[in-house]
Amino acid sequence: MFKIFNSLLLKLFFLSFILVAFPYSSNSIKLDEITAEEVIIKKRKSIFSKNYSTAKKVQTFATKGDFEKAKSLMIEMSENYIDLISLFPDNTKKGFKTEALPSIWENKDEFKQLMKKSSDDMIKLAANIETATDVKQSLNNMMWANCKACHSKFRAPH
Ligand code: HEC
Repeated sequence: MFKIFNSLLLKLFFLSFILVAFPYSSNSIKLDEITAEEVIIKKRKSIFSKNYSTAKKVQTFATKGDFEKAKSLMIEMSENYIDLISLFPDNTKKGFKTEALPSIWENKDEFKQLMKKSSDDMIKLAANIETATDVKQSLNNMMWANCKACHSKFRAPH
């Protein structure tokens, strides 16, 4: 008698475990998917914001003639552009206040090329800034122009 009661109790224990755990686990899978998209969108936004503040520092250091500091920040920006390329997967077209336009996914190669060019230009800028005849002009051509070129086609007006 005690044996039967015991195994019944065991079954009841597992059944209640399944009933409680199953809806919870399927819910948490959904939550994980949403979180992944949110993390990616927020990550790329924060890298863009960081690049903006870094670009302003680059402008300040370079025009003051502090080329060593300017150059190391240029390299940092160059690397950030490369990191950004992988932060536009197909499931991050919408939501979380993204300003990314659908044109990014319609012209994926062009978008990637522009990101790569922006990265390469920062390396070239770092190599040439010290001997540039017009520092401000070089910053405009090799740094700021790339922001505008990309935003005008791939970022929503804000
Ligand atoms: C090859 C494309 C590309 C280049 C180059 C580029 N951006 Fe952007 N930028 C974007 C896109 C796309 C977004 C929208 C990202 C989002 O909201 O998901 C963005 C967003 C931003 C944001 C807003 C971030 C936020 O918190 O929402 C800032 C600031 C910014 N960019 C500054 C710059 C500056 C400054 C440069 C140049 C030094 C630059 N970007 C170069 C494509 C680019």
